[in-house]
Amino acid sequence: MRVVLLGPPGAGKGTQAKLLAERLGVPQISTGDIFRANVGQGTELGVLAKKYMDSGDLVPDEVTVAMVKDRLGQDDVSHGYLLDGFPRTVVQAEGLDQFLTEVGKPLDGVLEIQVPNDEIVHRLSGRRTCADCGHIFALGGEITEDSACPDCGGKLQQRDDDKPETVRRRLDVYAKETAPLVEFYTPRGLVHPINGTGEVSDVTQRALDALAGVP
Ligand code: AP5
Ligand code: ZN
Repeated sequence: MRVVLLGPPGAGKGTQAKLLAERLGVPQISTGDIFRANVGQGTELGVLAKKYMDSGDLVPDEVTVAMVKDRLGQDDVSHGYLLDGFPRTVVQAEGLDQFLTEVGKPLDGVLEIQVPNDEIVHRLSGRRTCADCGHIFALGGEITEDSACPDCGGKLQQRDDDKPETVRRRLDVYAKETAPLVEFYTPRGLVHPINGTGEVSDVTQRALDALAGVP
């Protein structure tokens, strides 16, 4: 199953992609995670990406498309994948289409996770990510500012781009550059919209239901 996860920052793409990847037995490919890993390792790609990520802007299309093509050439994607955070512009979507046509393996579906803007701002201000295992959490309940990762004991960190002014910029960029992808994929009958609010497990079930008819 070759599926794109679409939705604004904070919609829960990363949260759901990890759960769905396990349930469906295909890898999650997150361009945001790949960029953050490169930033952490101080690679040339990381130094370049950081300039854009810190201001909430998109990393240039050519760099991002080349990186994803490279990733899709690896062995573990033979049974499909979940693309999390890519494509994000029409140019990226066209680049992806061209590549998938060349290899004869077109997309099977686009899962669009819908969440209202006010909830997104609230979610991103409370997001914490484990520096060791990468699992995503939200402040509240058992997770406090001082908590360690409940899954591995690692340090929980706030992402640099979750500052309120950067979040506003990311939402603007989403509306302008990424939201048009719904129109891009709709004529091909690929888009499956789901409500991304409520319990995480309920959202996962909606996603599995929406993807049930997808090969
Ligand atoms: P990226 O990492 O892709 O960030 P994003 O799209 O802004 O998405 P997020 O990771 O912020 O949110 P998410 O939808 O994954 O939500 P999450 O599950 O974490 O990109 C970061 C940057 O990298 C970009 O700004 C850009 O610079 C660059 N980049 C990446 N891809 C690129 C591309 N293709 N082209 C160019 N540049 C690119 O959940 C959020 C919070 O909500 C968490 O705290 C979570 O616990 C909580 N939560 C989740 N589900 C629920 C629920 N049901 N109820 C309540 N809380 C919930
Ligand atoms: Zn952890």
